[in-house]
Amino acid sequence: MLVAPSLLSADLGHLDRDIRRMESAGADWMHIDVMDGQFVPNISFGLPIVKAARASTNVTLDVHLMMVQPERYIENFAQAGADVLTIHVEASLHLHRSLLAIRQAGMKAGVALNPHTPVALLEDVLDCFDLVCIMSVNPGFGGQTFIHQTLKKVTSLVSMREDGAHDFLIEVDGGVRPEQGAALRSVGVDVAVAGHALFSAEDPAAVVRALKGARGSR
Ligand code: DX5
Ligand code: ZN
Repeated sequence: MLVAPSLLSADLGHLDRDIRRMESAGADWMHIDVMDGQFVPNISFGLPIVKAARASTNVTLDVHLMMVQPERYIENFAQAGADVLTIHVEASLHLHRSLLAIRQAGMKAGVALNPHTPVALLEDVLDCFDLVCIMSVNPGFGGQTFIHQTLKKVTSLVSMREDGAHDFLIEVDGGVRPEQGAALRSVGVDVAVAGHALFSAEDPAAVVRALKGARGSR
């Protein structure tokens, strides 16, 4: 399982230092949460932070757009250096078209589902995305409590992927803490996003090891 620290919990005044710290801790990707104050109640940051992160690291930048009409900014995020661009089903009127546009812009296309949104909505676009992000909290804030119910969707997606011989990755985002590692791995999660758990830890490497189920971890 890959681990993607959410930069929402980083110290933006020391972004470069915090990214390096997460890389040394064994993190695989960096997850960047863009919030518009409309799709979600909160406003976080946008293109300049993606550019700054790109200048700091070569790892995959996994950009999660929590915004209405995300299709307006696909080209801008490609230019800023995003590798994966994830848009919400609930915010995308023409999801099929937008996912193809993300690939056309040279990025991997991701699609995110809020906790109440069923995976059935993806049935007719299974070939059009490279990653599905299952929200395990209601998006908008870091440090919330993990909603276990959402893991059922991972199990359904694993079957859908097998049945159709698709090859998208399954990501879980929100409230992930070391103690969820075993459950995430057992249902087949490919990418675990963690903000608060990693950035508030004295030893983030121990958190990464626990999530990955490495020998000797908690
Ligand atoms: C929630 C964001 C998450 C969040 C994760 O709206 O999409 O990526 O930053 O942070 P934690 O792990 O603190 O819940
Ligand atoms: Zn996110």
